[in-house]
Amino acid sequence: MNSSKPFTIGLLTSGGDAPGMNAAIRAVVRTAMTQGARVLGIMSGFDGLIAGDFRPLAARDVGGILQRGGTILQTSRSQHFVEPHGQREAVRHMNEAEMDALVVIGGEGSLKGAYALLQQGIKVVGIPASIDNDVWGTNISVGSDTAMNTIMEAVDKLRDTASAHHRAFLVETMGRNCGYLAVMAGIVCGAEMVLIPEVQATIEEVAVAVEDAYKRGKAHAIIINAEGSNIRTTDLANAIDGRDVGFKTRVTILGHIQRGGSPTAYDRLLASRMGVKAVDALLDGKFGVMTGLKGRGIEYMALEDVVKNQRTANLEYYEMTKVLAR
Ligand code: F6P
Repeated sequence: MNSSKPFTIGLLTSGGDAPGMNAAIRAVVRTAMTQGARVLGIMSGFDGLIAGDFRPLAARDVGGILQRGGTILQTSRSQHFVEPHGQREAVRHMNEAEMDALVVIGGEGSLKGAYALLQQGIKVVGIPASIDNDVWGTNISVGSDTAMNTIMEAVDKLRDTASAHHRAFLVETMGRNCGYLAVMAGIVCGAEMVLIPEVQATIEEVAVAVEDAYKRGKAHAIIINAEGSNIRTTDLANAIDGRDVGFKTRVTILGHIQRGGSPTAYDRLLASRMGVKAVDALLDGKFGVMTGLKGRGIEYMALEDVVKNQRTANLEYYEMTKVLAR
């Protein structure tokens, strides 16, 4: 490390915010400081990189954020960064600020942005953070556990009212093109049926599942529909209400509530471990990687592999939801 100028790490959060992003920010800043490096926070994701909107972050700047959802650095889905012009501006501002390296905290799209910068010669390390858990190369992304707990609490409440009224609740979860949240919610919430992007379903199958639940004497039926499945939740409700399946239906679209809230202990720990490892990598001269949870440890996965592969829902767990619905 050059003794006259501390190694300078740019840090940004990008894409949909995820609970635990702040914990990762805190870990990056404090690990860097401990090792004699400094951190420049980049505001509003890649948009801030293009605009040169940077501010130094020291230990006290990241105090009191471990337990907060959202991201103190704010975020964006940058349209400009997709263009070569945007990427060129970003590199220019990084050079002007004498940034030696960059840590990108975000989901699939953000890690693609990180990879684009890597190809332009920027030393970059990614930290996977997205409630969707659709990032390849890690068992789980920061934020997914909190979102799962939010879904579980919501569905537990819905079940109370569903039972009281003998109703079928159609609950829509987020997750974009990945069925992870819906499948796991199906297991932890005891759903009668789960619809995910990875498996095509028909309205007829859902109607049969709801009627079966009624005939088996259940007091309610819970159907979890991933937002990316092949059937829209409202279409499903209209179609099922048009038939006599025992229960009447109600729809709950959980929406952005799944992205907010205080991160769980699991997410705080995961984000902290990954933040430390991201800085360790850069200070060891390692870059072009993402921190990934493998087994019990945090490992480095090549960004190239991360962006070229797609993580989908585990179909074994999808099958399990059917068994457990009896
Ligand atoms: O990627 C996180 C996510 O919450 C997805 O589950 C969802 O499809 C999307 O972001 C919603 O994006 P926005 O907040 O831009 O509407």
